[in-house]
Amino acid sequence: MQSITPSTEPDDRLFVIDCDTGIDDALALGYMLARHGDRLVAVTTVFGNVSVAQATINTLDLLAVAGRPDISVHTGAATSLDGAFAGTAHRVHGTNGFGGVALPTSARQPSAESAPAAIVRLAHEYSGRLVIIAVGPPTNLAIALSMDPSIATLIDEVVVMGGAVQHAGNATPVAEANIWHDPEAAQRVFASAMRVRMVPLDATMRQRLTAADAAQLQASSSATARLIGEALDHYLGFYEDVFGLQECALHDPLAVAVAVGDESVLHEARSPITVELANGPSRGATIVDLRRAYHGPVAVEGARNRVVLRTEDDFGSRLVAALLTLP
Ligand code: BDR
Ligand code: CA
Repeated sequence: MQSITPSTEPDDRLFVIDCDTGIDDALALGYMLARHGDRLVAVTTVFGNVSVAQATINTLDLLAVAGRPDISVHTGAATSLDGAFAGTAHRVHGTNGFGGVALPTSARQPSAESAPAAIVRLAHEYSGRLVIIAVGPPTNLAIALSMDPSIATLIDEVVVMGGAVQHAGNATPVAEANIWHDPEAAQRVFASAMRVRMVPLDATMRQRLTAADAAQLQASSSATARLIGEALDHYLGFYEDVFGLQECALHDPLAVAVAVGDESVLHEARSPITVELANGPSRGATIVDLRRAYHGPVAVEGARNRVVLRTEDDFGSRLVAALLTLP
């Protein structure tokens, strides 16, 4: 098994989180703020778990509770590129995207600059240093690329939470939700000249939180951790109803932890990622070439895309510890 441990090299990378906030998006934002909040230069929002308007409200409110109202929030795409989907996933994330828990309302408005425009500007401003962590449908990135194709080589890396390689899908039998919600955008991102790392369900379904973790967050002295802990009750209920699990998976926060280099990657493949775009039962599937996996770590010649298949166990405890340090 190939193991990639976090680098100890000096790291001057800066980050944008592109999200459809969302309970596990909130976990991702909370983790980033707790561990590397000084390197989060903007948050961009997108439709998905909720409408883009609700995702933007949730993001502004959460940043305010966490004491970071200075981080700019940019509203992005309201629908998939084909216009067919505008959200939502109420059953998973509740009608407000935060498990029905009311966040204190922030008076702040999002930036007048759109999410794709912000991505283009920041890619130029921080050339070679910017990492985009896309934990919703990757529509904003696809639009940004069409606005200015030169960003493909200016952005250091894109980390996409999405896809299912050897794991079943969660939106359809084969498709994961972020890719299913905009397969055309995902395909454009994977096929672009950008360095893209995908963190699929294969890796994220292995990392979990329990009701005891939620209770610990709810009992903490951190207002942010308490609110996230309360929202987790809904998320845990969904996992129990649908998957029969007593735990919930940590999709978006794992993508952030991998992108920032906090978590060791135990198994990764280098392969082109192709998204099935046909309107059949496989639409939204992510195809990765693992045919040579029995020989050892897969590295398809010339492949730019990387696929994280497994990370170190017990990320959940490190996530909880990080969230407890928030205001
Ligand atoms: C992804 O879909 C959304 O519901 C989650 O926020 C996560 O980004 C998991 O499939
Ligand atoms: Ca998400």
